[in-house]
Amino acid sequence: MKLSIIAAVANNGVIGNKNRLIWHMPADLKFFRNKTLGHTMLMGRKTFESIGKPLPGRKTVIITQQKDYKVEGCDVVHSFKDALKLVKNEKEVFVVGGAEIYTQAIEHYYTKTIYITRIFASFDGDTFFPDIDEKHWEMIERNDHEPDKDNKYPFSFMIYKRRKKPIA
Ligand SMILES: NC(=O)c1ccc[n+]([C@@H]2O[C@H](COP(=O)([O-])OP(=O)(O)OC[C@H]3O[C@@H](n4cnc5c(N)ncnc54)[C@H](OP(=O)(O)O)[C@@H]3O)[C@@H](O)[C@H]2O)c1
Repeated sequence: MKLSIIAAVANNGVIGNKNRLIWHMPADLKFFRNKTLGHTMLMGRKTFESIGKPLPGRKTVIITQQKDYKVEGCDVVHSFKDALKLVKNEKEVFVVGGAEIYTQAIEHYYTKTIYITRIFASFDGDTFFPDIDEKHWEMIERNDHEPDKDNKYPFSFMIYKRRKKPIA
């Protein structure tokens, strides 16, 4: 099993504000859907509540400390370790946020890939993506896009792979 992180991140590292996404970028939503369809997604309880419902065509695992938390159509676990146990037989599992869950996943050796949609604008926000340390992560692909009638900001799809050995 490998974990892949997927996130949309502004220039200044912001990923959300007041438990909401800030921007509307249909190209990113489409990318997210295509990547995650048919897979299991791990998410924090706050991100789940921000989305508000299980997304079709994907299994949702919600991580919370609340022992009585239940959502129809989703699995609920009480630690990151228990989330990994639950999905251990799957090939690729997506970590879809938020910041608390990204921060735990990025350190984990099961996480081999990070898909970042970089939005080239800065926003006020209260939630930030953790640092992608170049010692451990190498950008292997980058596709730049200009704004268009549906997507207001320039953006880039970036793929990072975990280095086999950290660089000095
Ligand atoms: N731009 C993007 O790609 C993107 C993607 C996802 C989310 N977001 C944004 O990120 C924000 C939410 O992120 P966040 O960091 O505030 O919250 P979060 O990571 O979604 O959820 C945090 C919650 O997860 C639970 N949790 C975390 N680690 C745990 C552990 N080890 N064991 C048990 N439970 C654990 C706790 O739930 P309990 O409090 O219930 O115990 C905690 O309060 C929103 O603004 C959202 O819109 C952005």
